[in-house]
Amino acid sequence: MQVIITDFQSRQDEIRYIRDQVFVIEQQIPREEEFDDRDASCIHAVAYDSPGHPVGTGRLDTEKEGKIGRVAVLQSHRRRGFGRAVMQALERVALDRGLPRVWFHAQVSAVPFYSSLGYRVISDEFDEAGIPHVVMEKRWSSSEGAGQV
Ligand SMILES: CC(C)(COP(=O)(O)OP(=O)(O)OC[C@H]1O[C@@H](n2cnc3c(N)ncnc32)[C@H](O)[C@@H]1OP(=O)(O)O)[C@@H](O)C(=O)NCCC(=O)NCCS
Repeated sequence: MQVIITDFQSRQDEIRYIRDQVFVIEQQIPREEEFDDRDASCIHAVAYDSPGHPVGTGRLDTEKEGKIGRVAVLQSHRRRGFGRAVMQALERVALDRGLPRVWFHAQVSAVPFYSSLGYRVISDEFDEAGIPHVVMEKRWSSSEGAGQV
């Protein structure tokens, strides 16, 4: 497994492929909502099963105080640690940039995944794109690092 940190332009074929499979095809989210104007400004992670075979992705918006989003792993590759690796790579970027936390809108169905990585729910449930969500966050102090649970 390898996780690459990249801008959108450099790996947009891989990122688009994974998000198309997971969000547009599997979750039926309209493509025009899925790919927004934040992609060009965000830092992206792409996880590879083997060279040239991307299976997971996610993005970090440093201009929105460390907002993580669009975390997705191909259905065929779930529960093999790719999602965790994507999250830890983005946390490391946030830590290196001096951000005190990362946060995001989590689909309620994905809360067990994020909880297992040390995130906590900090909001009530709300609707987004027809899917129930909550806000989750992870803060770290100077004595601990990103990627720790
Ligand atoms: C959520 C998602 C990214 C998780 O990716 P993944 O690669 O399967 O996750 P990992 O294998 O790294 O899982 C790490 C840990 O999270 C927990 N976890 C992951 N998926 C889980 C699930 N469906 N139910 C309960 N716990 C889960 C487990 O503790 C797991 O460790 P284990 O497999 O050793 O028990 C993936 O399921 C996905 O792409 N889902 C569809 C898109 C989506 O909902 N994205 C989130 C939008 S907010």
